[in-house]
Amino acid sequence: MKRFIKPDILAMQAYTLKPYTYRHKMNQNENPFGYPEDLKAIVLERVAQADWARYPSFTLDTLREALAAHNGVRREMVLVGNGSNELIYVTLAATLRTGDHVVIPVPTFSVYGLLARVFGAHVHEIPMPPETNFALPVDAVIETAQRHQARVVVLCTPNNPTGTAYAPADVERVAAESGALVLIDEAYREFADQDFTPLLERYDNVVLLRTFSKAMAMGGLRVGYAITNEALARELHKAQLPYALNLFSETAALVAIEHFESHFRPLIERLKAERERLIPALNALPGLHAYPSAANFVLARFDRPAREIFEALLNRAGILIRDVSGYPLLAGHLRISLGTPEENDLLVQTLAEILGAA
Ligand SMILES: Cc1ncc(COP(=O)(O)O)c(C=O)c1O
Repeated sequence: MKRFIKPDILAMQAYTLKPYTYRHKMNQNENPFGYPEDLKAIVLERVAQADWARYPSFTLDTLREALAAHNGVRREMVLVGNGSNELIYVTLAATLRTGDHVVIPVPTFSVYGLLARVFGAHVHEIPMPPETNFALPVDAVIETAQRHQARVVVLCTPNNPTGTAYAPADVERVAAESGALVLIDEAYREFADQDFTPLLERYDNVVLLRTFSKAMAMGGLRVGYAITNEALARELHKAQLPYALNLFSETAALVAIEHFESHFRPLIERLKAERERLIPALNALPGLHAYPSAANFVLARFDRPAREIFEALLNRAGILIRDVSGYPLLAGHLRISLGTPEENDLLVQTLAEILGAA
């Protein structure tokens, strides 16, 4: 049977998430406040009035128009997909040939490397060690891309799972000097004070990826989008399945955009305030170091084995966080998604008990 499968796939580890029983879900960087109830009612009413028998909009013009206005770009520059994961897939499918080179600073979101290998690419991982606070090794990224004439460089900022926001000047240097297509994953942009949209005016090799799964509390509905120049958007679109987005998700995304300032901005501000409260509270505990974060999660290094801490949180308080200690360079590290204020308090209190500070 296996003889039908490409060697690249046979050699790969699958992307998996182990199911756990939990009371507090702080493992996937979701919005703990959820999609606002009054907006859910609007979505349900609009969806109830639509004709479910008909295919959804082919070009998604209404949503793309709304996203263009929201991001200050033209509609033709926006590509909408079934989660930003789909757009990572589409971008790599449209660009990578077997044997092409891809440069990825690590640790980062593992899907890029996984998909690059699916398409037969050589992945060059550039280490970002904890001692540097996971700063982007910009010279090494550019040098490696140039040496291998890399087709794609993937930069995730703020980076998952480190929370690091790369210096904008460094990101721009990669766009200017790498010679590659630069995929900038901005899944956590709403929690950071960065905006890479202006790069699109200056460079024709930049693709920005954004999502409704995190700040916009729509992880369950699978909506992401890419912004790039019009010529590239037309080409990437060719690699996409028709009707990637269903009517329900399209409606929920549109309603979220329409109510961004009134409903989502305050939730984002509350989460940013929680982050600024949680990091010093964690660092006041013995036996751990929490890194700065520009996202809605916090990475921490523990003196005791990470697995022990992970299990103790789950067993004592039903708090599920993410064990990232198996990622490159992250032995001893765990990633904690921001919860509600009550959940963050419970987390700190439970950790204090586990670490013997309470
Ligand atoms: C950096 C990054 N990019 C993309 C994704 C995928 O998001 P989506 O739900 O839009 O597919 C995630 C999800 O965890 C992520 O952390």
